[in-house]
Amino acid sequence: MPNHLLASALLAAAGCTVALAAAPALNTPDARADALIKQMSPEELDTLLHGQMALPLLGMKVPAGAVIGAGFVPGIPRLGIPALTESDASLGVAYVMGLRKDGATALPSGSALASTWDPELLRAGGAIIGGEAHAKGFNVLLAGGVNLVRDPRNGRTFEYLGEDPWLAGTLDGASIAGIQSAHVIATAKHYALNDQETGRQFYDVLIGDAAARESDLFAFELAIERGQPGSVMCSYNQINGAWGCGNDPLLNGVLKGDWGYQGFVMSDWGAVHALDYALHGLDQQSGEQLDKQVWLGEPLVAAARQDARYAERLRDMNHRILRTMFAIGIDKDPPKASPIDFKSNGDVAEKASLEGMVLLRNQGSALPLEGATLKRIAVIGGYADSGVLSGGGSSQVQGEGGPAVARPMGGDSPLAALMMEQYHRSNPLKAIKAAAPNAEVLFRNGRYLTDAVAAARKSDVAIVFATQYMTEGVDLPDLNLSDGQDALIAAVTAANPRTIVVLETGGPVLMPWLSKTAGVLEAWYPGARGGEAIASILFGKANPSGRLPLTFPASESQLPRPAMPGADTIETDLMGNAKPGETLSVDYNVEGSDVGYRWYARQGTQPLFPFGFGLSYTSFAADGLKVGSGRPLALEASVRNTGSRSGADVVQLYLTSAGGKSVRRLVGYQRVELAPGESHTVTLSIDPRLLAGWEGHGWHQPAGAYRFALGRSATELGSEVEVKLPEKRWTDQPQPKK
Ligand code: BGC
Repeated sequence: MPNHLLASALLAAAGCTVALAAAPALNTPDARADALIKQMSPEELDTLLHGQMALPLLGMKVPAGAVIGAGFVPGIPRLGIPALTESDASLGVAYVMGLRKDGATALPSGSALASTWDPELLRAGGAIIGGEAHAKGFNVLLAGGVNLVRDPRNGRTFEYLGEDPWLAGTLDGASIAGIQSAHVIATAKHYALNDQETGRQFYDVLIGDAAARESDLFAFELAIERGQPGSVMCSYNQINGAWGCGNDPLLNGVLKGDWGYQGFVMSDWGAVHALDYALHGLDQQSGEQLDKQVWLGEPLVAAARQDARYAERLRDMNHRILRTMFAIGIDKDPPKASPIDFKSNGDVAEKASLEGMVLLRNQGSALPLEGATLKRIAVIGGYADSGVLSGGGSSQVQGEGGPAVARPMGGDSPLAALMMEQYHRSNPLKAIKAAAPNAEVLFRNGRYLTDAVAAARKSDVAIVFATQYMTEGVDLPDLNLSDGQDALIAAVTAANPRTIVVLETGGPVLMPWLSKTAGVLEAWYPGARGGEAIASILFGKANPSGRLPLTFPASESQLPRPAMPGADTIETDLMGNAKPGETLSVDYNVEGSDVGYRWYARQGTQPLFPFGFGLSYTSFAADGLKVGSGRPLALEASVRNTGSRSGADVVQLYLTSAGGKSVRRLVGYQRVELAPGESHTVTLSIDPRLLAGWEGHGWHQPAGAYRFALGRSATELGSEVEVKLPEKRWTDQPQPKK
């Protein structure tokens, strides 16, 4: 098709004449997109559809107009169409190995954020990272990861929001909305079922329709409907034999069809293998240097000349990208270099860190520590004299001045620096000294048992910092603490029974020494102010209120797949393409939609610590569960602080039986701050999809009795209330245009 005919075919497909005739509609994002497509020259039609990496690495150059970061898609200045400047940002604007020579506020890890069960805090966290991105010249953040933790050994567990779709989806939606409030596009990722790193560029997930819809896809559905992300990133892996970025059923069928998603689908970096991904729902090829070919460039435009299906997609891809720019306002409020208020953003990170820490054990009220009376404290291990651990890979964030410690993890990959074990400049030792001004504080690095034990023996209390490092690109071989830390903790607890273990982990670890400790605080990767936050909890300035967003297994044999698929055969790394003939199937039909605590409930096994668990320095009583009036179904309960300190509780509501079938499903939650003696009534509306299962092409709620119980965790449930519900069937309703 000659160029001018291609342009008019695109216009006709866009229905532009109609849109232009209706003058008032011209201001909508859709009408503006159509009007611009009309003005694009044929040479400009693929400009927005593929982008490069913007890193001075691996022989690449940073394109003109780009900011050093994950990606860059040029704009069309003559039409006022902005370029897309993209940064990773799961937990803050990514550090990219210091190449940009700046720092950013690091929020605590996703597992920590999810432990807050506090959507408002996630929204505030999103707003600060969106604001920092804006001030650094970015208008797209690759932030909004909502893959479920199906296997806690997944090297990216720390980036995600736990194992439950309702918790993860609602929190992610809030975070996305926060980011976009700064006029920066957020990206829900990695769509979909991208739940391990072993064989990350090629494994094939096998999963039935119902299982997928009720679990991982449900988390995305919630995040998308609540957050309205401008972009969704499709994943590297295959799902039921089709690549994530060329997966017609998932992209055209579920995302754009059933959910009516209006934004654009960008590929993960190096995840595009063929031109026909355009027909299957991919809108933009990212990090094109990593693919064999720039498919969504010349080849796409050439195909559009011959084939009306490609011509229509070419229009639709441009339309989706442009309308997203306008809907989120990156044109009206373009990124602008401006100073960042690290003090106030750090306050938000610290609040998240405090709310996210989970007190797992507190024998005989060993905690909080009395700062004023302790004479000698031994602080051992975990680089606690320097900083707090952060997660590695593309999401790595560091503050100004870079990491306090960077420990190489080996290997000769050009991206090895991205995977170094790095610690933020937030110093727990200093914070402990400040909290216990009269005490002598001894530090031992924990490399030798002898001096650690000697220091513990002569101290009133020993605080062992134990770390579990995780990074994108590699899964954990097992859930043990590395580097002999289990032996260190065992030796220290034997020397001093008043030993507190502070865990800085991306996810669960096994704890063979648990019963010997006085206390265990799960601090996760606690972010920019993690050291201060740890001391605040240990010394009682703040009351722990985090609740686990994922199950801590008692052993790996309790997991749906006791061994990580592929761990025995595949040499995986960040750039891990398949070797010739290499394949890997991962069977998620084993647990289906019974991810995490639902799997333990189904198997009747007791984990080490259940989903939803977390102790406090005060105590709470939640009761009076009853069914509220009206629709949708809502339940009410009252929660009271029965202790003598202020604190926050998380009311958790579980479905225990649905239509006569025994189930375990979180259907509502609310975090409540309470003064001593104070009580509060919470009303939890139940999303109908939580009562239903996926059957055929829609949701099905069987007729029968539905039982609910409040839970202190997924395994400690109160008395049940029952409600009879009729049979109902419905399909997902596509989102109205905004
Ligand atoms: C990761 C994405 C990331 C992208 C760009 C990929 O390797 O899977 O999460 O956004 O790189 O850095």
